[in-house]
Amino acid sequence: MTMREKIKDAAARYPDQRSAIMPALLIAQREHGHLPGQVLEEVADILGVERIWVYELATFYTLFHTEPVGMFHLQLCDNVSCMLCGAEDLLKHLETALAIRKGDTTPDGMFTLSSVECLGACEMAPVMQVGDDYHGALDVARIDALLDNLRATTERVASIEPSTRPQGE
Ligand code: FES
Repeated sequence: MTMREKIKDAAARYPDQRSAIMPALLIAQREHGHLPGQVLEEVADILGVERIWVYELATFYTLFHTEPVGMFHLQLCDNVSCMLCGAEDLLKHLETALAIRKGDTTPDGMFTLSSVECLGACEMAPVMQVGDDYHGALDVARIDALLDNLRATTERVASIEPSTRPQGE
């Protein structure tokens, strides 16, 4: 199914096509990895909505990326609860461990590091979102173990013959 077909299919569930912009953006981002201007225009054209509405949503929510991001997007919450539980030190540790600054991507394209507003999981503070997963009660040791695990996952997938890889990896 093409991206256009997937978006049309999802949009059919909404009486007002403006309500379908977010699911359409999720589909487009899965397809392209991020949402450059031409993709935003394509989404607007498929839905028949104003381009500015699509642009506004894509640039408001941190789950959408208008710039390319690494294979693993590390989004560390720096809001009050997480800050009180050590998020500032964890951000510094991540910058050191990855040898990049907040907002950057590692040269190998594996990690992008961002700080984000409250992830709505304050009870797990400090929290970091990686892809669709939340990792909470973080400390330096857990961050290091998580990075090692993500690197190992990549190496394992890379070592599998393409024809035998599970779908979605
Ligand atoms: Fe970090 Fe709410 S303040 S999840």
